[in-house]
Amino acid sequence: MPVLSPKSAKLQQSPIRKLAPLARNAEARGTEVIYLNIGQPDMPTPPEMIAELHGLALNRLAYAPSEGLPESREAWSAFFAGWGIDFSPDEILVTAGASEAITFALSVVAGGGDEVLVFEPCYTNYLSFAAQADVKMVPITLKVEDGYHFGDIDRLRKCITPRSRAILLCNPSNPTGTVYTESELEAVAEIAVEHDLFVICDEVYREFVFDSGQVRSFTRFADLAQRIIVVDSVSKRFNACGVRIGCLATKNREILDVTLRFCQARLSVATAEQLMVVPMLENGRSYSERLCGEYQRRRDAVFSGLSLIYGLEPHRSEGSFYTMTRLPIDSCEDFAAWLLRDFTHEKSTICLAPGEGFYVTPGLGTDEVRIAFMYDVATLKRAMRILEAAIKAFPER
Ligand SMILES: Cc1ncc(COP(=O)(O)O)c(C=O)c1O
Repeated sequence: MPVLSPKSAKLQQSPIRKLAPLARNAEARGTEVIYLNIGQPDMPTPPEMIAELHGLALNRLAYAPSEGLPESREAWSAFFAGWGIDFSPDEILVTAGASEAITFALSVVAGGGDEVLVFEPCYTNYLSFAAQADVKMVPITLKVEDGYHFGDIDRLRKCITPRSRAILLCNPSNPTGTVYTESELEAVAEIAVEHDLFVICDEVYREFVFDSGQVRSFTRFADLAQRIIVVDSVSKRFNACGVRIGCLATKNREILDVTLRFCQARLSVATAEQLMVVPMLENGRSYSERLCGEYQRRRDAVFSGLSLIYGLEPHRSEGSFYTMTRLPIDSCEDFAAWLLRDFTHEKSTICLAPGEGFYVTPGLGTDEVRIAFMYDVATLKRAMRILEAAIKAFPER
């Protein structure tokens, strides 16, 4: 048999979905499984968006322009303007979610084993995007005891090599819920200029900052304008993951020109979906603010539930809709499998995302888990009680 490419070997199985067969078996046995492992919003897509889809007067679904429909690019521009971020429609390329935008961004700024710095724990798919783009991810490890902040600029400096091309930053962070401070962003900006790097800013959770905080978008650094690539998406802010609409925005003309060639090669993004998101992009701020309020209540429920568990010092998530926490357990991967295979509490169990899969560095995160806030407050409180009972009962602590 012919062998597969070296790239194929680098693509990891999603650590989030790995437990799915065990969860299905548990459900087949009649156990209720509360899925804390997946960031798929549970609330309905805004009816306005669905109504827009039904109202579209389309009689021919032709290819849209590769750069995106003019209405869609204008709507993204208006959306950014609402956040004080200046991108004209021609500085925006519409993509199939942020996933495609990140893959394009990595492919445009690096390749052939070039390095991109990333904070770990990180969004697991970054590793697969990097493998596709033939980019090496160089991790800057963040620790739970620091609230997953990096604080000191020297942490970044030490990771720079002659192959470094960019820094990829997710703010607010999936999986940790960290919202980077002003001085941390300044440190990234300083390093980017000092070492001539691009900054890829993944701001898909921009709206979700708790305790009246606000995310500081990187686009504020005017002197960095030519280095910055923003990737964004409607998936999370509008409960519309299946719509698959995102964008890549930058003021750098060369990046826009090259990325457009990638866009041309995949022809276009879905026409109807580009149009259906226009009204929400233009007027969806209050909707996502309401979502943020709900996620904060859920964060509070998870944090106080975790705080009640003996031996735990939970991390208080500052944004997004996740938290990562350390458990008094050596292998959270074994624990997560055991929860689904062998444990129930009042006929229910929980599905956790083991922390290891969110690290680039092998062996890290074995005693951590990520928890997503995709249930109402009452269910999350119940889930934390199940977790408490499970920690006590787990035989391999
Ligand atoms: C940090 C981060 N970036 C990008 C994405 C991809 O989003 P999209 O659905 O727009 O492709 C996700 C999805 O979970 C994410 O968490």
